[in-house]
Amino acid sequence: MELVRATEAAAIRAVPFIGRGDKNAADGAAVDAMRKFLGTVNFDGVIVIGEGEKDHAPMLYNGEHVGNGHGPAADIAVDPIDGTSLTAAGRQNALSMIAVADRGSMYDPSAVFYMDKIVTGGEGRGVVDLRKPIGENIRALAKAKNKDIADMVIAVLDRPRHAQLVDDIRAAGAGTRMLLDGDVAGGINAALYGTRIDMCVGIGGTPEGIITACALKALDGFIQGRLLPRDDDERQKAIDAGHDLDRVLEANDLVTSDNTYFVATGVTDGGLVNGVRKLGPVLRTESIVLRGRSGTIRRVQADHVAEKWL
Ligand code: FBP
Repeated sequence: MELVRATEAAAIRAVPFIGRGDKNAADGAAVDAMRKFLGTVNFDGVIVIGEGEKDHAPMLYNGEHVGNGHGPAADIAVDPIDGTSLTAAGRQNALSMIAVADRGSMYDPSAVFYMDKIVTGGEGRGVVDLRKPIGENIRALAKAKNKDIADMVIAVLDRPRHAQLVDDIRAAGAGTRMLLDGDVAGGINAALYGTRIDMCVGIGGTPEGIITACALKALDGFIQGRLLPRDDDERQKAIDAGHDLDRVLEANDLVTSDNTYFVATGVTDGGLVNGVRKLGPVLRTESIVLRGRSGTIRRVQADHVAEKWL
């Protein structure tokens, strides 16, 4: 619940910036609120996955200590807003999120920002493989889920780099769910029981891949990812750090511990949770809390007296 307070605070503080066109201001407000609330959590946390370097956004920086310094030693991955552009534009599906795992258990991507990923529910384990053509993966997953290919929905970030992937998905007979942003939510929705999305594929952020892996531990979901350096500099840094760029990483590589927590609060309305709503004197938040070890999915609705947030 302490972690939820931090994502709730970040989401609430981002509200004045929804639809105001300034993504860095929205992110800055969320970062400040999250940092403040993380300071009260009973753990000795170190941010190992901060997000924001990519576009020089404000950030909870890597190596920053958070928490009250007592309690368990933990690795923290934060994304104060996954969907800063969505927030700035007033679009749906922006989330504030934190993932926590035992100290030393989260993967260090050595500043390689992008990763090629495939995420499914547990049915995809031993069935789909990032190295195989997408059509083959769709057919195999459809069979494993006992679904018609025509009913398969594949989430992909709407980016020019995915044009061929999208053509191939449709040529295989499946439909796409084009995501403007937010492939963590896309991945979680692929793994959650009872959603419309069967698989989330394509190139997205590496930090988001690690956060997704923490969430999937609670959902028995399946993820594979492969680092994709943007240029020679990133490639060299990754090689110098000892990464094998051909290696296909799975959930247990991205986070070795099963003792994971993932929390997300809606900033704007979305498929996973609703965004912050002003209802008379209260601000209503909706969050999802996933606990890896027990495999528990909790949905938390909270009303906050708005006056206390002025
Ligand atoms: P931010 O809002 O934190 O910038 O991330 C949004 C996001 O869509 C992620 O969900 C995704 O992994 C990444 O950006 C993709 O990067 P890009 O926008 O450069 O394609």
